[in-house]
Amino acid sequence: MSGSSQNKRKILITSALPYASGSLHLGHLVEHSQSDIWARLMRSLGHQVKYLCADDAHGTPIMLNAEKQGMTPEAMVDGIREEHWRDLQGFGVSYDHYHSTHSPENEALVSEIYLKLKAAGHIKEKVIEQYFDPEKEMFLPDRFVKGNCPKCGADDQYGDNCEVCGSTYDSSEVKNPKSAVSGAIPVLKESKHLFVDLKQFESMLKEWVHSGSLQTEVANKLEEWFDAGLQSWDISRDAPYFGFKIPEENNKYFYVWMDAPVGYLACLKYVCDQQGEAFEPWVDRHTNHEMVHFIGKDILYFHSLFWPAMLYGAGMKLPSAVYVHGFLTVNGTKMSKSRGTFIKASTYLDHLNPDYLRYYFAAKLSDGVVDIDLNMDDFRQRVNSDLVGKVVNIASRCAGFINKKFNSKLSGTLHNQALYDEFLSESQAIAVLFEARKYNAAVRQIMALADKANQYIADMAPWVAIKEEVQVEEVHQVCSTGINLFRVLMTWLSPVIPFTARKAEHFLNASLEDWFAIEQPLYDHNINQFKPLMARIEAETLEQVMEISKQDLEVKETSVIKVESNGQLAKDPINNQINFEDFAKVDLRVVKIVAAEAVEKADKLLQLTLDLGGETRRVFAGIKSAYDPEQLIGKHTVMVANLAPRAMRFGVSEGMVLAAGPGGEDLFILEPHEGAQPGMRIK
Ligand code: 2FM
Ligand code: ZN
Repeated sequence: MSGSSQNKRKILITSALPYASGSLHLGHLVEHSQSDIWARLMRSLGHQVKYLCADDAHGTPIMLNAEKQGMTPEAMVDGIREEHWRDLQGFGVSYDHYHSTHSPENEALVSEIYLKLKAAGHIKEKVIEQYFDPEKEMFLPDRFVKGNCPKCGADDQYGDNCEVCGSTYDSSEVKNPKSAVSGAIPVLKESKHLFVDLKQFESMLKEWVHSGSLQTEVANKLEEWFDAGLQSWDISRDAPYFGFKIPEENNKYFYVWMDAPVGYLACLKYVCDQQGEAFEPWVDRHTNHEMVHFIGKDILYFHSLFWPAMLYGAGMKLPSAVYVHGFLTVNGTKMSKSRGTFIKASTYLDHLNPDYLRYYFAAKLSDGVVDIDLNMDDFRQRVNSDLVGKVVNIASRCAGFINKKFNSKLSGTLHNQALYDEFLSESQAIAVLFEARKYNAAVRQIMALADKANQYIADMAPWVAIKEEVQVEEVHQVCSTGINLFRVLMTWLSPVIPFTARKAEHFLNASLEDWFAIEQPLYDHNINQFKPLMARIEAETLEQVMEISKQDLEVKETSVIKVESNGQLAKDPINNQINFEDFAKVDLRVVKIVAAEAVEKADKLLQLTLDLGGETRRVFAGIKSAYDPEQLIGKHTVMVANLAPRAMRFGVSEGMVLAAGPGGEDLFILEPHEGAQPGMRIK
């Protein structure tokens, strides 16, 4: 493998476009780190890369959020885009450009793609009935309708799914509906919508799925979707909507998910125009240009079905690859605001070196769609032991001698050329692992070689040899070998830890950005004075970051309408008062959980068997995100014992257990005082 013989590829690399609705957090950084490492690797291998991203600016939540803040959506998304770009740069994410989907290029491109789809007969019209807020005079997306669950009756549920019983439904089925925007009672109203007829693309999509563009587990998931049947996709929204108007229609807007992926190409078009490069070859089916998307598993449907269908329908090239990663957990559970593990990118950057996190993610990331866990203790130990203790240590053990004893000049030959050659012989395999996104395996391999380099220096003990006049030249060569090995390791790690790599470049007085430059060792080469390249992570710093993250939460909770990182409206209870008679009707009992198990095919439900002091009940509870079933067995809790039994998809639920908290993993079943025994009534 050599730089000159490499076949240079032209690759567009993208990450999913963050919503312009809130700050970036460490969850976002998994993907931006993964794609950035890949982009930097590809550049280092000599390929021509366009690594691009943008903010995803449109949609109802963003429009309403801006309104609440008394801003125009344009001003709000501009501000958030700046913040996002600043944070991403802070993490060393090397996008060649960071755009916005609210741009003229995007409007032109999405309109062009739509008109091509329409001309080819892929767009169908259908009149649908939807809730309309008569006060705000707007149609309400399902998430903005709240009311009683049509299945279990639970209060204050979203218009598309119930967090208590886990069922999903249509917003028109919700009982006692209210608008989450104004509180008004919504009315059902008809409106014409435009749909992409996805079925027309089925055979093309089936072929594409097995073209090698997708991970095996992703291709299997798609097969399930094919089996379930492809549904037409609603791409229009009525005014008021923050988005682009659909051409040849009266006051209809493109749904945000229609123009969002087009944003990848709009950003590319913008960059091509700026650089005087032709855009067309990038989308022409007959070129070798590649289009590689990095995404999270939650948005697979859009990227593996809708997006290829749009591209194909518009006569454009299909993505060469869609690389899907899992979610981030922190300390073993979902990121939690109250636990301080929902850490904003900027909070992290205020206290910690971005390379720490990039390295830790790399050490964990594979080519699979598995979730990765940021365990704070492991994070600290791993970074301190690998980067500080192994890699940087090689330079710091050798640099002092070269700087002080040999006038900062490396020797003309290496003491152990064979070891250097052994390192070099691994270079291609390491590049292959990185390219295959097996970063964890690549990092393991690099660290094994770092161990070897350290062992070599320990065996040679230059600090002993330097005392012997006759061995001085050997010390020069040993330390020069060490510095050269450090250069090799840092070249391989440069895509992962770019900030440290830039410091190392200064020390080495040599670039680390060319994968192949290490084929030529540094002989008779002047280096600079060594300065510490990286400090250790202190446990207190991590604690401080988590403490500050808890405070971030308090500030955020004061806003009235909250849009979560996924762009959905956060839970915002609508107050409903009841009178004393209503309250007196509720039969609350202490119960013991005698069995608990997950319910197959229900994301949120656990099936609990409850002992009411002789009588046993089965209850389905939406607390799976907060508890492992085993944790619950033997606990006492409180149930509503006189709730009418409800038939659910999974069986009949005979009551309800009480829990407190905002939801997700922050949900706590009520545990009565230990003296309370199963069957006791609560008064
Ligand atoms: O899920 C999200 O965060 C979306 N904003 C991702 C959009 S990716 C692309 F299609 F634009
Ligand atoms: Zn329900």
